[in-house]
Amino acid sequence: MNLIILGLPAAGKGTQAKKISQEYNLTHISTGDILRKAATEKSLFGKEIKKYLDAGELVPDEMAIGIVKEKLLKEDLDAGVVFDGFPRTPKQAEALTEILAELGKKLDLAIYIKADEAEIIRRISGRRVCRDCGASYHLDYNPPEKERVCDRCGGKLIQRSDDQEETVKKRIRLHSKLLAQLISYYEEKAILKTVLSKGGIEEVFARIKEIIEVNL
Ligand code: AP5
Ligand code: MG
Repeated sequence: MNLIILGLPAAGKGTQAKKISQEYNLTHISTGDILRKAATEKSLFGKEIKKYLDAGELVPDEMAIGIVKEKLLKEDLDAGVVFDGFPRTPKQAEALTEILAELGKKLDLAIYIKADEAEIIRRISGRRVCRDCGASYHLDYNPPEKERVCDRCGGKLIQRSDDQEETVKKRIRLHSKLLAQLISYYEEKAILKTVLSKGGIEEVFARIKEIIEVNL
């Protein structure tokens, strides 16, 4: 099964994509995680990516598509893939359809996690991520066992550079329009399912599992 998770920043895409990949043994491809890792490199490429991320702007379509293509060619795709943060634009959506077709695969589900702006702001302001392994926490909703320390690797927990209030507002503005276009694209393909983001992480996951189970 191949699926994508759609939603505004901090809707819970990464949190749910990780749980889905563990439960169904799917490969998790997060363009945001790949780009954040690349942005820590001292190379010119790393610095260029960092500029986009810090500004809350999308990297060019060709770059995002290239990253996903490269990853797909490397991974074992037999069990399936959960895409998180990709596609982000109609051009990326078309590219994903084509890349999967070239590999003899198709997208089975597009799960849209619907969140309102107030919830997004609460989630972003409490989010902390591990500087070393990228694991994500929330100070109230999903706290680490030890304050400011990653449960998984012991790394330091920090705020993401694009989680500043002004950048967040910019990301929401930018993504709202593109998200609407992606929703129409997958509605037309009759694979869109909407899940409300309200409730805790496990509650949202239970809703997603119900959808996946009927599509397995
Ligand atoms: P990306 O990393 O994809 O960021 P985003 O879309 O802005 O989404 P987030 O990662 O901020 O949120 P999320 O939905 O994953 O929520 P999370 O699970 O963390 O992309 C970052 C940047 O990279 C982009 O701005 C762009 O510059 C670039 N980029 C990436 N992909 C690109 C592409 N395809 N094309 C071009 N550029 C691209 O949850 C948020 C918080 O809430 C966490 O603290 C979590 O613990 C908590 N939480 C989650 N669910 C719940 C719940 N149900 N209840 C309570 N708390 C919850
Ligand atoms: Mg994410």
